[in-house]
Amino acid sequence: MKNIFNKKIGLVIACCVVIAISLTINGCKASASVTAKSGAQLWGENCRRCHNAPDPNSFSSEQWVTIGMHMQSRALLTNQERDKIVEFLQQ
Ligand code: HEC
Repeated sequence: MKNIFNKKIGLVIACCVVIAISLTINGCKASASVTAKSGAQLWGENCRRCHNAPDPNSFSSEQWVTIGMHMQSRALLTNQERDKIVEFLQQ
């Protein structure tokens, strides 16, 4: 009886480990697809949904940081996506 109980616990733990590993792998894949996109790409895809995509020359580097934070909340971007777009716009 005790032996069966131990086997069940082992099975439950094994399942948890498998689920945890697959979640981790999927999480990495999702962030890899974001990483694959350049700042310019993200800018073109996200920043012209509501208005014309702003010209990188139209604001200073400091202004882009502020605008980036402002538009991040409007465009529902992740911090990583925002950083890439701001980096592109600052060049
Ligand atoms: C969900 C809609 C939406 C998205 C997506 C969006 N914006 Fe905007 N943006 C606005 C609105 C509305 C305004 C004008 C009002 C304001 O400043 O909040 C604006 C204004 C601006 C301005 C003018 C600021 C000024 O002071 O003249 C800039 C520059 C700008 N956005 C850049 C961006 C960039 C860069 C992105 C991509 C990361 C972006 N926007 C994505 C809605 C959006």
